[in-house]
Amino acid sequence: MSRYPLRTWMLAGALLGSLGLGCTEPEEPFPTTEELEKLQSLHTPSRKPPADPTNKYGDDPLAAALGNKLFNDPGLSSCGTVSCKSCHEGESGTVSTPKSLGCNGAVTGRNPPSVLGSSYSTWFMWDGRADRLWNQALLPLFSPIEMASSPAILRNRLTTRYAEEYKSVFGKLPSEESNDEQLQANFGKAIAAYERTLNRNEAPFDQDVLRFLGAVQEGKAEKDPAWLGLKTFLRKGQCILCHKGAMLSDDQFHNIGVADASDSRRGVAAAANAMLTWTFNSSGPYSDAPAGLESGRLQRLVSDLQLKPSELEGAYKTPTLRNVELTGPYMHTGDVKTLEDVVELYDKGGDVAGSYVGTLSQSIAPLDLTDEEKAALVKLLKSMTGAPKQ
Ligand code: HEC
Ligand code: HEC
Repeated sequence: MSRYPLRTWMLAGALLGSLGLGCTEPEEPFPTTEELEKLQSLHTPSRKPPADPTNKYGDDPLAAALGNKLFNDPGLSSCGTVSCKSCHEGESGTVSTPKSLGCNGAVTGRNPPSVLGSSYSTWFMWDGRADRLWNQALLPLFSPIEMASSPAILRNRLTTRYAEEYKSVFGKLPSEESNDEQLQANFGKAIAAYERTLNRNEAPFDQDVLRFLGAVQEGKAEKDPAWLGLKTFLRKGQCILCHKGAMLSDDQFHNIGVADASDSRRGVAAAANAMLTWTFNSSGPYSDAPAGLESGRLQRLVSDLQLKPSELEGAYKTPTLRNVELTGPYMHTGDVKTLEDVVELYDKGGDVAGSYVGTLSQSIAPLDLTDEEKAALVKLLKSMTGAPKQ
């Protein structure tokens, strides 16, 4: 039995610690078993998007062919000049400006995300105001600052241009569809079937992760060229907490402190209620999912709104990092120009307090990265660009 009570020992320990005399633990070799599992989760051999039970036409090639035409058709807009492609173009699936231009020169409030690989998500728009890929398509179609269309324009266009193709997918002519909302849902489902084909192939990143996993087995992890980048991504950067799995996204909402003075800066906190009561949401009458299948996901959002509202204030969807070199500028505002700037933003732990609403996610704090670590992160991000699909 010690002569001194436990408290005294604890006090002595704390003192030694504060004097820097306590044992500073040597850093554990990278990766630990737990980290190894996270690294393994980044690699998936199959690049096929997960099935979408809410869209029974999602993998129908005829629906995708119709969707391709609709995606590229400016005749669906009221001004006659804007299609989905106008803002989601070419090899990046987006535009290279911070914002994008809709009908009559209107400017969007946010940066358009890429449509490449969007079929891996279940939430859409930076603030999650659509909860499936097919219902997302209705928002830009009818938004006054995007395609500014109307149910009448859509009906007219489907009837005059796509009647037979529509019938081959949905079983009746658009003119035989008495319910406008059904027509709109079908439009979205054809577009989504096309978007499910938009992706790029494996990236150098995938090979690097595989090779690194091999090097770990051989005890040569530290010599691998990807070592510092992956280590920083997992450890000091904590990036893996949110950018995880094959798409490098947790498909959830977080506040990382991106400066935003716009009216819509509350993110998901402001958008969720309209989505939850929306006729076209994934639990509504136009969803093909069996009753109840999607409600758990929506219910979780409802309880998050009730139980931890401050976490959703100013929170946005974690974007995929795949092809991120092609999709700049970055963040929901499009105000962060380069990947170097992104890394600087994380390094200082988000923008200055007061430039965004809400409180930062717990894991966002100054990182104190060295120049070498910053460069390794940027290199890692740039390696995530997939080869074009043949
Ligand atoms: C005027 C430019 C513009 C047009 C036209 C446009 N979009 Fe977008 N798109 C955007 C912007 C901006 C966002 C982000 C909006 C937000 O989050 O508030 C976006 C978001 C998206 C997303 C969400 C991606 C994600 O990961 O969350 C998809 C999918 C998408 N658009 C597909 C389409 C389709 C399909 C059409 C045609 C029906 C279309 N867009 C028309 C600008 C446009
Ligand atoms: C707490 C979760 C979280 C962590 C940790 C995190 N991110 Fe993010 N990341 C996000 C969210 C959410 C956004 C979008 C934020 C916004 O626009 O307001 C984002 C955006 C990005 C973007 C911009 C992508 C685009 O298309 O605009 C890049 C690049 C990025 N993160 C890389 C990283 C790196 C590198 C790290 C580690 C240093 C990291 N992230 C850590 C959640 C996170």
